[in-house]
Amino acid sequence: MVILNNVFQPSYRDADKAHIGSMDQYHKLYEQSIQDNEGFWAEQAERLHWYKKWDTIKEVDYTKAAIKWYEGGQLNVSYNCIDRHIEAGHGDQTALIWEGNNPDEDRSLTYNDLLSEVSKFANVLKAHGVRKGDRVCIYMQMIPELAIAMLACTRIGAVHSIVFGAFSSDALRDRINDSSCKVLITQDTGVRGTKQDIPMKVHGDHAVAKTPSIEHIIVVKRTGADVEMQNGRDLWWHEEMEKVDSNCDPEHMGAEDPLFILYTSGSTGQPKGVMHTTGGYLVYASMTHHYVFDYQPGDIYWCTADIGWVTGHSYIVYGPLSNRATTIMFEGVPNYPDFGRFWQVCEKHKVNIFYTAPTALRALMREGDDFVTKHDRSSIKLLGTVGEPIKEPEWTWYYNVVGEQNCPIVDTWWQTETGGILITPLPACTPLKPGSATYPFFGIQPVILTPEGEEIDGNPAEGLLAIKDSWPGQMRTIYGDHKRFFDTYFAMFRNYYFTGDGAKRDEDGCYWITGRVDDVLNVSGHRLGTAEVEGAIGAHEAVAEAAVVGFPHDIKGQGIYAFVTLMAGVEANDDILGGIKQKVRDLIGPHATPDKIQFAPALPKTRSGKIMRRILRKIGENELDSLGDTSTLAEPAVVDDLVKNRK
Ligand code: PRX
Repeated sequence: MVILNNVFQPSYRDADKAHIGSMDQYHKLYEQSIQDNEGFWAEQAERLHWYKKWDTIKEVDYTKAAIKWYEGGQLNVSYNCIDRHIEAGHGDQTALIWEGNNPDEDRSLTYNDLLSEVSKFANVLKAHGVRKGDRVCIYMQMIPELAIAMLACTRIGAVHSIVFGAFSSDALRDRINDSSCKVLITQDTGVRGTKQDIPMKVHGDHAVAKTPSIEHIIVVKRTGADVEMQNGRDLWWHEEMEKVDSNCDPEHMGAEDPLFILYTSGSTGQPKGVMHTTGGYLVYASMTHHYVFDYQPGDIYWCTADIGWVTGHSYIVYGPLSNRATTIMFEGVPNYPDFGRFWQVCEKHKVNIFYTAPTALRALMREGDDFVTKHDRSSIKLLGTVGEPIKEPEWTWYYNVVGEQNCPIVDTWWQTETGGILITPLPACTPLKPGSATYPFFGIQPVILTPEGEEIDGNPAEGLLAIKDSWPGQMRTIYGDHKRFFDTYFAMFRNYYFTGDGAKRDEDGCYWITGRVDDVLNVSGHRLGTAEVEGAIGAHEAVAEAAVVGFPHDIKGQGIYAFVTLMAGVEANDDILGGIKQKVRDLIGPHATPDKIQFAPALPKTRSGKIMRRILRKIGENELDSLGDTSTLAEPAVVDDLVKNRK
């Protein structure tokens, strides 16, 4: 390992056989990917099996938010993730290792097993009327049937919409209705950490009471807990699987046919149904997984994310399986049964590549090194992070304690919208700087813009992060609302994709993500819109008005700070406080519960009645010296009360 001015050049065990072995090689391929963009992406697409090759590589018009890749091509995602590996003689290789919440529970599926399970479940879906293009909602904890269900959808061309298992029944209902899903797949109850009975089916029942499009609920028996099954509507997974054949021909899908919808938060209250399509997404997920994690045959690869978020879609399921990886799926949490669980699992399954979120690292580093060092981690060669900015303390701990200074850390920047990683180090060559996602991936052209949309050339630079040109993994639309897609990402700056993030570029051209510049929070790596949380708080009958901002939180990265004005004549008390929190849990889910609620007689507003969030953000961040100009406020005295009663 070489360290120079806080730049780390770690020794990487697989450097000799790495897919990209030097910065020279990186620069050469990067140049090629920009100069001959279409030639580059044509070549990269060859990593997949196509029933029919494309007619055109790329047709992109950002002025209409029109994006197409590999138009005219035909392929099937499940075939690419399963069948072709079996045809190449690898059917007995382990595809998926499932590690249960309790340390004595695990299960392995070979590629042969996966083919049979996926084909059977595809036939179950077909038997219940699911056809190409139909939407299927999946609301589960991290059990193998979740991956099987999503691959089964892709086999028959159904579009999955996975809703993270911690969302409430109301949130589930809204997502089902937004895309008119035909079937809901869930489980009886779920286990996660000390929670042994998460009422998944009950939530599903509540949601489905108001979702006219749902015809069936298919229920996996995970715990054996008693659940009500409605005759005709509800079906047990295991019973249905017994009735069907284990062969199902994969549907030939157009490259631009929808693959999945995944809801994410934006700056308005209504979540966005991010839609990805088949060909470009898979090329991009597959290729980034190959290069960024330098996946080599035989490697055991573990991404600790939940499949309910995009990281799980791209880097537990589609990227790894398309590359014939052995991928781990973990049902539990990092602190159960103790804070050493991640490392115990690494030891147990001899994990080579480990990918997690900074929030988990921050929580674990507080508990001391023993939880790490008591487990053998000699199998690990590469570490990764995703989801939020990683700061120096947790980076250094990850590097020194977990990786014993022998493992490069790939700090990967990307978004639900981007489908895969856009800015990242490559393990065998990129000099690492704690906190920087470093350089763009092949084919990606990040730019830093001024608020007026001027590109800032030269280094260093700081401003708004946008991407010039397209890449195959880019989202194609917001389901049912193409105008919103255009307005959110392409209206502000002509001919750029605007990310919603701020960034700096340093003297060496390395990118440092500074965080969201819109009203989106990143709480423990979960993306939440302030407007969504405000809407939920506002639904409490005692609340007149609420404004939500983020504040720096030691573990979560950002915490949720809510300023709440109650109805005239209502006195704040603990019941109301608890009631507001409960409202948020009911309408969104426990992950959106505010950390701090401050009752205020009034919120700071301009004379035209607009809440001045800038001031609330500063109060939330405890930057009271930089509240800025408050003279334009309708009632400047409001601020004094907010400062005095700050939580
Ligand atoms: O602000 C950036 C942050 O997470 C946002 C995207 O959130 P989501 O769509 O939920 O996807 C998370 C997993 C890809 C981004 O706009 N973010 C993600 N990765 C990083 C990051 N911020 C800093 N560094 C990262 N590596």
